[in-house]
Amino acid sequence: MPARDIIIDTDPGQDDAVAIMLALGSPDALSVLGITCVAGNVPLPLTSRNARMVCELAGHPEVPVYAGCAAPLARPLVTAEHVHGRTGLDGPDLPEPTMPLQDKDAVSFLIDTLRDRPAGTVTLCPLGPLTNIATALTRAPDIADRIAEIVLMGGAYFEVGNITPAAEFNIYVDPEAAAIVFRSGVPLTVMPLDVTHKALVTAPRNNAFRALGTPVGLATAQMTDFFERFDKAKYGSEGAPLHDPCVIAYLLEPSLFSGRHINVEIETTSELTLGMTVADWWGVTDRAPNATFMGDVDADGFFALLTERLGRL
Ligand code: RIB
Ligand code: CA
Repeated sequence: MPARDIIIDTDPGQDDAVAIMLALGSPDALSVLGITCVAGNVPLPLTSRNARMVCELAGHPEVPVYAGCAAPLARPLVTAEHVHGRTGLDGPDLPEPTMPLQDKDAVSFLIDTLRDRPAGTVTLCPLGPLTNIATALTRAPDIADRIAEIVLMGGAYFEVGNITPAAEFNIYVDPEAAAIVFRSGVPLTVMPLDVTHKALVTAPRNNAFRALGTPVGLATAQMTDFFERFDKAKYGSEGAPLHDPCVIAYLLEPSLFSGRHINVEIETTSELTLGMTVADWWGVTDRAPNATFMGDVDADGFFALLTERLGRL
């Protein structure tokens, strides 16, 4: 079976970094056509720097990296240095990137790739705010029918918010962009906090990363050692939640996850609940289902897959 063509849209972020490496460690299953960077966890200059550092750490400087939108569609940028550190990739001491950033902007790369490749063959994997994706859909509405699927990390229902009481960070930063994506009609699979908060890097799991004895294994352990502080303090978690790698793990082993095909709308007006993913989990409305919203994950299976694939880099 040929590898699945994907584009990773990302705001690295330690968990984004692990997701990128999981994809690069799975070349038989996934072909990363490019990495498009967006402002989110940290500003765009840092997310586009970090993405290249991760590609070089993984031994894949050939992966084209593109810079996209530096701010949300209609609001000031909100960042998350309090979670990810000043650089967005605090923890390991990684060298500055030497691979270049592509000259083409990320949105043009998304549009051109979707127009140039056969319809239904490219999967988009957003791991941050949806600004790049929404901008591409708005600038080139014809690409909506050409996207095979969007598998994204964002939102929350039972788990409620991590940046406000109601909203998860990726959706909260650019709710207008999220509304465009969720109403696009593109097949949508969502990895919300309901799932990602069950993918926790406990001490034994982090020790397994370190025990790989490779630069990738060590850096991953150092990233999660840093990244776990926020969630341990806020939720009393047993370790860092690996939000974004859930997207890539779903592409590799979908049976690790379970959820429902339901209606999900985005709050874009109320300041109190801005960015909330209003998920009709119990089917109490007649709103048409538009997303497969995940609710559970086999965490041991997830970490077994992740550790094995990181071990290949
Ligand atoms: O809320 C978690 C999400 O926000 C993750 O994608 C993390 O990297 C940040 O972007
Ligand atoms: Ca992210």
